[in-house]
Amino acid sequence: MEEKTVYSAVQPSGDLTIGNYIGSIRNWLPLQESYTCYFAVADLHSITVRQDPALLRERTLSLAALYLACGVDPEKTTLYVQSHVPEHAQLCWALNTIAYVGEMERMTQFKDKSQKHADNINMGLMDYPVLMASDILLYQTDLVPVGQDQTQHLEICRDLAIRFNNRYGETFRVPKAHIIKERAKICSLLEPTKKMSKSDENPNASIFLTDPRDVILKKFKRAVTDSDNTIRYAEEKPGVSNLLAIYSVFRGCTIAEAEKSFEGCGYGTLKTAVGETVADALEPIQREQQRLLGEREYLLSLLKKGAENARERAEKTLISVYEKIGLLRG
Ligand code: TRP
Repeated sequence: MEEKTVYSAVQPSGDLTIGNYIGSIRNWLPLQESYTCYFAVADLHSITVRQDPALLRERTLSLAALYLACGVDPEKTTLYVQSHVPEHAQLCWALNTIAYVGEMERMTQFKDKSQKHADNINMGLMDYPVLMASDILLYQTDLVPVGQDQTQHLEICRDLAIRFNNRYGETFRVPKAHIIKERAKICSLLEPTKKMSKSDENPNASIFLTDPRDVILKKFKRAVTDSDNTIRYAEEKPGVSNLLAIYSVFRGCTIAEAEKSFEGCGYGTLKTAVGETVADALEPIQREQQRLLGEREYLLSLLKKGAENARERAEKTLISVYEKIGLLRG
């Protein structure tokens, strides 16, 4: 039987947090063993909000290096930059003609981002889900590992695929979300009832994958706890529970085991231990990412190979779409 295809992407806007790592990239790694995987740096999505051009370029390369440092294996997986494969934008144009303005306006992320960037509600921002659908559908994807926040976009992608297939005949495979069951939700260190976010205004609320050890330790020291001073996992203790959750995912132990190892300890001990654990886990990733960024030519050549690989698949889909909708072949 043909191997199933997995597609996912991350935008190169802003540094990733340990929440992104635990919730997304880390979960994709095992998929490489049994699926045909395409992982992309979604730079075309990033420009739907204003970016500094030089910084965007650096972040694109740095995210590609991070994927590799986390364990994405370029021998098994196609790793590439979205804008290197022109078929994404080309398919997006075709899909735009079957996507309705009304359904795009209803997207939660569009509404949120329109509020946040009220001075720049551009067409691209509204078109974001159609571009994302194009990413996925170009590769005849079966599974899309995404976090909870992207499920609405995946629904639209499925709707567009089904709509196109109904109108023009079977063309796209209709993908399914591969929702990653989060072993633990990683929350803000300062408002532990909120999810940790890479776009939090206060950098002390999040641990970024690029944070050096001393910064990590300092941020955990400042993490919000409570005045009860007992280390247990409980709903009424969101700060302490978050620290225990982070400790347990990075240690690979259960919450109960984490609680047990801090029996009789104070919050100071817990915070230091969590900080050390996270810093130890990130250190090899950071070292490898830096090493790769030092080999710019090698990285660029890997991405070029990735894009060539991706194009081979993407081109086939695009040709069949253009043919079905009646564009004359040149
Ligand atoms: N929108 C996704 C995010 O912000 C990134 C993304 C772009 C993506 N294209 C995709 C995710 C295709 C999955 C599949 O996280």
